[in-house]
Amino acid sequence: MRLTCLVDDNSGTANPLHSISKAPGNFLAEHGLSILIETDRGKKVLLDTGSSKETFQHNLELVGLRPKDIDLVFISHGHYDHLGALPVLLREGVPVHTHPLTFQGRRFVETSGVRKEIGPSAELLSLLKENPPVYDDRPKELVTDVSTSGEVFRRTDFEKPVSFLIERNGETAQDIIKEEQALYLSTRNGLVVLTGCGHPGIVNILTQAQMSTGRKLLMAAGGFHMWKADADVLLKTMDGVKRTGVSKVAPMHCTGFAATKTFSDRFPGFLLLGAGCSMEL
Ligand SMILES: [Fe+2]
Ligand SMILES: [Fe+2]
Repeated sequence: MRLTCLVDDNSGTANPLHSISKAPGNFLAEHGLSILIETDRGKKVLLDTGSSKETFQHNLELVGLRPKDIDLVFISHGHYDHLGALPVLLREGVPVHTHPLTFQGRRFVETSGVRKEIGPSAELLSLLKENPPVYDDRPKELVTDVSTSGEVFRRTDFEKPVSFLIERNGETAQDIIKEEQALYLSTRNGLVVLTGCGHPGIVNILTQAQMSTGRKLLMAAGGFHMWKADADVLLKTMDGVKRTGVSKVAPMHCTGFAATKTFSDRFPGFLLLGAGCSMEL
């Protein structure tokens, strides 16, 4: 199985010491995440699409693929930085899998009294009417060796999404991003857990992966959403992640610099992945 980071907040670099390669060319970076999984049976599955069609298409071309080469796309949750390029895939008839709540309601983030809409575009919602996704909130095998987590149970008291709002039926409420699911990749050496933004909390996500599959956790990669975490939360998260026994971590996207640096300092299996980076699992 091969993992390639197509879109991330940073453009990556090869690291031969950790068997991380990078395709030639200038990969674009943007606030968003898209990860390509190529299975041993030849299936190409995408986790999310990043924010913009331009970045997604540019980077996909650099790895030698066209949108129609993708067998299916799984959308982790309903934020623009994960589904912005979905119209490109829908126009090519690529099947979409996600949680039933992903495209429900209007999503906002509010900081310092300023509210910004962060949900799907009108263009995407219109395209989805003609190409409805496959919805499921329970764990499900998408293709051999690639499964969804189902909804993530929130166990910890220090991993709580803040500043997110959802407007539904004329009412606005705090949004815990209930729909966010992770992907599980089954490899010879253990389970790889891929997160979108990680809003349910990386400790909650990894704990559920371990409990529901009974597998050894090889790696956690993706957004850990810790850019607002204080020192107490950072340390509790670090301890919680270590307790799951996961061997490697590749914090990406919205993890934030302080959290990424803390993982780098304290976690021996730290990996730095960015747009263009690939590794064999
Ligand atoms: Fe995100
Ligand atoms: Fe998000």
